[in-house]
Amino acid sequence: MKTSQTANGESFRWPQPETARVPYQVFVDPAIYTREQEQIFRGPVWNYVALDAELPNPGDFKATFIGDTPIVVTRDREGELHAFVNRCAHRGALVCREMRGNRNTHVCAYHQWSYDLRGQLIGVPFRRGIEGKGGYPADFDPTTISLSQLRVATYNGVVFASFAQEVEPIEDYLGPTQQPWFTRVFNRPVRVLGYGRQFIRANWKLYAENTRDPYHASLLHLFHTTFGIYRSSQGGGVIMDDTGRHSMIRAFKRTEIAERAAYETTALRTYQKGYTLADPSLLQSRKEFEVELTNSIHSIFPCLVIQQIFHTLATRHILPKGPDSFELLFTFFCYADDDEDMLQKRIKQANLVGPAGYISMEDGYAAEIVQQAIVRDQDACSFLELGGVEASNVEDLVNEAAVRGFWQYYRHIMDF
Ligand code: FES
Ligand SMILES: [Fe+2]
Repeated sequence: MKTSQTANGESFRWPQPETARVPYQVFVDPAIYTREQEQIFRGPVWNYVALDAELPNPGDFKATFIGDTPIVVTRDREGELHAFVNRCAHRGALVCREMRGNRNTHVCAYHQWSYDLRGQLIGVPFRRGIEGKGGYPADFDPTTISLSQLRVATYNGVVFASFAQEVEPIEDYLGPTQQPWFTRVFNRPVRVLGYGRQFIRANWKLYAENTRDPYHASLLHLFHTTFGIYRSSQGGGVIMDDTGRHSMIRAFKRTEIAERAAYETTALRTYQKGYTLADPSLLQSRKEFEVELTNSIHSIFPCLVIQQIFHTLATRHILPKGPDSFELLFTFFCYADDDEDMLQKRIKQANLVGPAGYISMEDGYAAEIVQQAIVRDQDACSFLELGGVEASNVEDLVNEAAVRGFWQYYRHIMDF
């Protein structure tokens, strides 16, 4: 067993069996949270920051976060994307205070230092003082000052940024097992339909577990199961990359009779036989993808989830806000060439997810009731043995393999 140091110098041991236990300390310890900011979010990963379609024009910008560091993504006059830390080089204020918009320059509200679309300092008020008094020394050179710039990469219209100088190309980061699933959804230009935000009082990794856990979906979510959107008796499985950090969970329909039979005999609370929808058009679907799936939940380490549930498409961005809270930003999108019927389906089915969604409001609550119960006894741990103790791909939906995959890579990148 390996002993590691947390950021505050205390020793930390992962319990055994390492592949199937997670100590509750990792969800509450501020020192571990700080270490994550350095080793994960500023480490050798590609962090999701935007969709290319959110910044179509020169001057467009989006303010977001990598881990808990505020950043801005911009498109310059040449059409190139940039990302920089949203912290003024003068005295540290947030430079950009809107979530999105279009500007030629970004001006800090505090003392009006101004920056171009690459984050380069271009203007400083009172540089020479007033009437020969005050101002900066003669050797002050604004051209040597810029906001901290990040590396940017785009894959099929999805924008990623990295603090790390040494990070593999985005194609390799996704790897050959994930690329085809990524491309299945991001197969042509998209258009943003809108946003949903959800604030959750729980550690961000509880949500990373949730989207890698096909087991909970048919048990926690009554709507899912009752209306046949997702049942564990469906066909499907889990496909991870070699490291275990990314996971694609896919579910497809078997015959309605076979699926219902499996549920009716198990008497689950979530399968409610008598329920019907007042508006059945909510769940109408038509063939759309070559590989037809009712649900595809694609988790890209560390904080991106790409969802397709029937026809609703969204990215979910997990934004950590401290050890015990995170924000979840849903960006709903459609394809630029969608016909009106498909567009209406996507908008209506967006009601399935988000803070009040028929099938996903319970996820935030589930993460919160874990957080509430683990504030003490931090060396106690969770039990992750559904489907065995390995983190390998499986062709069923009754396993915790991808949750183990996440922790396998987490231990590696955190050096735990
Ligand atoms: S802190 Fe930004 S200009 Fe002073
Ligand atoms: Fe869920």
